[in-house]
Amino acid sequence: MTEPMLEVEDLRVTFRTGPRGTPLDVVRGVSFRLEQGQRLGLVGESGCGKSTTILTLMGLLPPNAEVSGAIRLDGVDILQGGERSMRPHRWTDIAMVFQGAMNAFNPTRTIGAQIAETMRGRGRANRKAAHARARALLGMVGIPPDRADRYPHELSGGMRQRAALAMALANEPRVLLADEPTTALDVMIQAQILELLERLTAELGLALVLVTHDLPLVVETCDRVAMMYAGRLVEIGPAATLFTAAAHPYTRMLFAATPSLDLDRRVTSLTGAPPRPDQELVGCDFAPRCDRAETICHVMSPRTTRVTEQHVAACHFADTGETHRLVPGVVR
Ligand SMILES: Nc1ncnc2c1ncn2[C@@H]1O[C@H](COP(=O)(O)OP(=O)(O)OP(=O)(O)O)[C@@H](O)[C@H]1O
Ligand SMILES: [Mg+2]
Repeated sequence: MTEPMLEVEDLRVTFRTGPRGTPLDVVRGVSFRLEQGQRLGLVGESGCGKSTTILTLMGLLPPNAEVSGAIRLDGVDILQGGERSMRPHRWTDIAMVFQGAMNAFNPTRTIGAQIAETMRGRGRANRKAAHARARALLGMVGIPPDRADRYPHELSGGMRQRAALAMALANEPRVLLADEPTTALDVMIQAQILELLERLTAELGLALVLVTHDLPLVVETCDRVAMMYAGRLVEIGPAATLFTAAAHPYTRMLFAATPSLDLDRRVTSLTGAPPRPDQELVGCDFAPRCDRAETICHVMSPRTTRVTEQHVAACHFADTGETHRLVPGVVR
């Protein structure tokens, strides 16, 4: 069997905080695989560890983070050797559009110069070639190349987000991590950026990890969805399956709380809150909020169960065939 392009196994991140270095377990055993051209949505409520997970794949966590597990690129673990083994892959194999990226440009330098710099920093291109490619990259993301000479404040939010995408693509990565790339944009621009992401991933054969809270967006854009709760992936499956036949009650709750154009459907609100990272957890992390929870859920952490070939869920009842018994009225 050939190795998957990217394989993350039992990834764990603990932040040391405060004067005593109190541990906060923020990512608690995340595993997934990604092949060339696949699009994976990473979804979950605020604070569940989405950004921390993908920052770990870039090797860009702050110094108070302790990381364990494996990040294999073509079968080779790039996490084990620390910064020395991560650096050659950062931006060249795995690149990222950061949360709030459109505000991350240096206001004193032109967009083109900043994109060109990411290439020169890698010693790949001389100055002239890097600037020419920066223009070409802007063209590719739908920005007229002459805007390369503009300063960030001279571009709209949507344009700056496109420019952030151009910058991430500058060194021809194979994997693109996009952290809420549309959150601060209006609906029309959001749709354009997503269309662009879809088109580029298809054209360039890029694998995409799209981080978002927005479930309808993820179902539309991604092949698979990974649901994150309190630092763990509680369900992964084909986007359409999670929408119509989720096996984890958390996934069902999030979908039930998502407004849609389907006016017949009653939208429920999210009840309760996720556990804090410093909270001691016994049993299933979701049990306190779960309408399905039984005694076992409060005492024993569920194992990840295979529901179908492509679909797994960490719930004691994941394989009971309840997957199609959705919350009444939620999905028809
Ligand atoms: N450097 C740090 N030191 C200590 N705790 C941190 C650090 N960075 C993040 N955290 C904590 O880790 C948890 C997960 O944060 P993270 O940013 O990964 O969540 P997220 O899922 O991306 O949330 P959002 O949807 O709001 O962006 C949060 O409780 C956060 O406060
Ligand atoms: Mg985040």
